[in-house]
Amino acid sequence: MPPARLSRVGLAVVFIGLVGFCLLFLDSSPLSDTPVKLNEPADGSKLIIQPPENITIPAPTPWCKPDECTTGRWLPRDPPFTTIAQFQAAYANRLDRLWKGCHAIPTTKPRTAEELDKANEDRLMKVMNWTWTPYSGQMRPWNADEFMIRLMRSPGGLILIGDSITQQHMHSLGYLLNQGDIQFDARQPHLPMHDHKNVHQLTLKPNVPKTLELLRRSGVPPSRLSRPVVTMLEDHMLIGEPEIRAITERLGASPTYHWYHDFQRVEGWEEFVENAAAPREGEAKSVTEDTVLMMNAGAHWSRHEFAMLPPRRTDKDEQARVKETYKQMMKLITGRMAPIPQLSVYYRSTSPGHPACERRATPYENGPSAEHAEQNVVGRLQALVDTDDLKKQRRRWDWDLFPVHNQIWKWTIRRLNRERAWRETRIAQGEVPGARWFYMDLWSQAVQRPDAHSEPGVDCLHWCLPTLLNNWSFHLHHSLFLESLPPTES
Ligand SMILES: *[C@@H]1O[C@H](CO)[C@@H](O)[C@H](O)[C@H]1NC(C)=O
Ligand SMILES: *[C@@H]1O[C@H](CO)[C@@H](O)[C@H](O)[C@H]1NC(C)=O
Ligand SMILES: *[C@@H]1O[C@H](CO)[C@@H](O)[C@H](O)[C@H]1NC(C)=O
Repeated sequence: MPPARLSRVGLAVVFIGLVGFCLLFLDSSPLSDTPVKLNEPADGSKLIIQPPENITIPAPTPWCKPDECTTGRWLPRDPPFTTIAQFQAAYANRLDRLWKGCHAIPTTKPRTAEELDKANEDRLMKVMNWTWTPYSGQMRPWNADEFMIRLMRSPGGLILIGDSITQQHMHSLGYLLNQGDIQFDARQPHLPMHDHKNVHQLTLKPNVPKTLELLRRSGVPPSRLSRPVVTMLEDHMLIGEPEIRAITERLGASPTYHWYHDFQRVEGWEEFVENAAAPREGEAKSVTEDTVLMMNAGAHWSRHEFAMLPPRRTDKDEQARVKETYKQMMKLITGRMAPIPQLSVYYRSTSPGHPACERRATPYENGPSAEHAEQNVVGRLQALVDTDDLKKQRRRWDWDLFPVHNQIWKWTIRRLNRERAWRETRIAQGEVPGARWFYMDLWSQAVQRPDAHSEPGVDCLHWCLPTLLNNWSFHLHHSLFLESLPPTES
């Protein structure tokens, strides 16, 4: 059913339990001829604020700290890609002929299947033709073996949890590890939740040379191989219906509202993580690292999804309620994760959408020019549609809340770490320090890439695989590496 028709039926009611969340993002109809008026910033390249390009900041070690690594810009890849053969050599994708999900920018003139194929190839090369370059320090080069060994040395490896964008990250990570010749078994029947549709657990394929090599190098006992090294939990909101009801009813929602949501959910994921992270008998000597939970709660936290919250006088008042539901969710989640020992929680910042992303074929020059050009995200989304209903719908996607929610995580994680540090001083008195917290600030890197969405003209929220998504794994790899250094060196 076309969303345009749905919205005529009556926004608040239908509000689209029928159509998934995704479809709504897919319908930005940016191909319409509507001229963009609302403060569409001029070409970002005219931008004013330039970073101190010529200042070299001396770093005490060659490595960038996590926040430094994510502060930088995209420079042309050197050497650039000119042929698809070069691209395939650099990004050997062993599973498909080419990466899927990186569509060409649509044209008004129809293309033949062959032309489209070629256009998709060209776009993929173009998107991958850039290198992330921190202003100071260097990142540890990606090394699949090193990454895997680190995960094997923890009871539960890496657990990703989040929505469809986290799912995209999981895909790119699977390819990356596969490129490193690491092979997996999925859905092993002895594992908990092995048949849950939203739980994907990868264990190392036993008895192949690579696994045996990793086993030897990691020094962990063979028993570790029976448990996952990478797990994906697809859970869109991180909390379920009863909790969302309790929170929204406190904020004025009717106790009898109809629950039409079809969120992907893993009921009991918190216990799953706790069990995965628990040390195992016979592994105490070598499986000593923290299990890593990489978590995100992103685009679903909008008025669009929280249609049960009663209308208020202004958009701002309504958004304040969404923000409050978000905080309450965080309180529940952090309260459950914080006591878990031997767990490192990396919160991945929600990445931005770029209205009319098909209009940019290159990254912005740097963070400040991207921020400037991408301000007024809601006005620009609205400008892409004609009717009041559609404009209202665009407002209610609340893309402008992404950075607000990110900021709350950033502050909360600071506080959680202060509290943990305090408990650490009181271990003798029986305090358990619990989980360690990290905020992965990947916003700037992503906001600079309007050109890198999966389907320009259709979907300006998801990302073109494998760009950016690979970089998220690289940043995690680097952070885990820094954590492994003795305190004086990191
Ligand atoms: C600063 O860098 C630009 C190129 O990035 C270069 O053209 C210019 O000469 C440099 N200026 C100085 C003072 O080094
Ligand atoms: C990659 O960038 C270089 C310039 O740095 C350009 O010459 C080349 O055509 C680009 N490749 C593609 C496939 O767009
Ligand atoms: C990030 O990904 C791009 C490809 O999209 C790659 O060229 C670049 O080297 C990566 N950056 C880092 C620091 O690994």
